[in-house]
Amino acid sequence: MQAELDAAVQALRDGELVAFPTETVYGLGAHAGHPAALRRVFDLKGRPLSHPLIVHLDSVRYLGRWAREIPPAAEQLAARFWPGPLTLVLPRAYNVHPLVTGGQDTIAVRVPAHPMAQQLLTAFGGGIAAPSANRYGRISPTRAEHVREEFGDAVRVLLDGGDSKFGLESTIVACLDGGARLLRPGSIGLSQLRSVVGEVLVGAASDTPRVPGSGGAHYAPLTPLSIVASEEVDQLAAALSAQGDRVAVLARRPPLRAHQYVTWINAGMRPEAYAHDLYAHLRALDRSACTRILVQAVPDDERWDAVRDRLSRAAGASVTAVPAEDEAADDSLAVHSLP
Ligand code: TXA
Ligand code: MG
Repeated sequence: MQAELDAAVQALRDGELVAFPTETVYGLGAHAGHPAALRRVFDLKGRPLSHPLIVHLDSVRYLGRWAREIPPAAEQLAARFWPGPLTLVLPRAYNVHPLVTGGQDTIAVRVPAHPMAQQLLTAFGGGIAAPSANRYGRISPTRAEHVREEFGDAVRVLLDGGDSKFGLESTIVACLDGGARLLRPGSIGLSQLRSVVGEVLVGAASDTPRVPGSGGAHYAPLTPLSIVASEEVDQLAAALSAQGDRVAVLARRPPLRAHQYVTWINAGMRPEAYAHDLYAHLRALDRSACTRILVQAVPDDERWDAVRDRLSRAAGASVTAVPAEDEAADDSLAVHSLP
């Protein structure tokens, strides 16, 4: 392990990329002060240069090198949730390279808790810019083997830290202009944030140029994915497979009846376990030769916020797939309304 860590640190210093585990998802890391290394991240991911990166630090102690101001809300959130699955967006320090920030005046920073990420950051002794280690728009990796699937040998060092504990990307909170705004839901929920800083607004301010994951489908499998109202999943899956579609279902319960031609994954009723397995399930379904994925809608309560967010992004802007009331009563179902 020490040899691998040393190799990772050397690779970072050389401007090469290193994939490493965090408790949310695997990151594709680059020396945050090395422009050529930063460019490699965008090239390898196929990510537009305008999409800023998160800088990872081993602790809050060097935050001042990256942020020129640490508002009280940020201090409180960092004290409560770092190290952990929280990213803070702060006013950037003036010397931060514009490739990190996408040319914006703000910077995203995170102190991850995964012991291997901690060891890497401490040994490297600087900031590591790391997006999720997947190609742009695709599903984030929650296992080392997912990173290999994405990038093969293009990543010089891949540290294997096992399954990601949470399985969804970090909660992103912007602390700018005195307030706190939730930009991306994650395993740290709104009420936890509010218990620390009081008011937390939801969504980007209208003058914020960059919304995480904006611009079409994100966190997406290649197979078309639709979100279907809870009660309609079985019927719709049966109707589609009777039509000759190879349907895969991601649900929170077993099927009501066995459908001969439907692959059915029961991901369970617990949001933490569902989130932990979600990306591995989507990858498995993508490989299963199904022609469409139906996902049973998840409950409308806060504990499912992060899962609901990723599912709706995976479905893309064009998909709703829930037949209207009167059509649902009809035998034909609203199959034609699916993409
Ligand atoms: O859990 C995570 O956050 C993982 C692990 C590796 O730390 N990283 C991750 O990075 O999900 P990425 O690049 O896949 O997503 C980071 C998101 C992007 O959607 C980006 O737009 C947003 O953070 N972001 C970065 N800097 C920002 C900024 N200055 N203002 C607003 N959003 C920002
Ligand atoms: Mg990502």
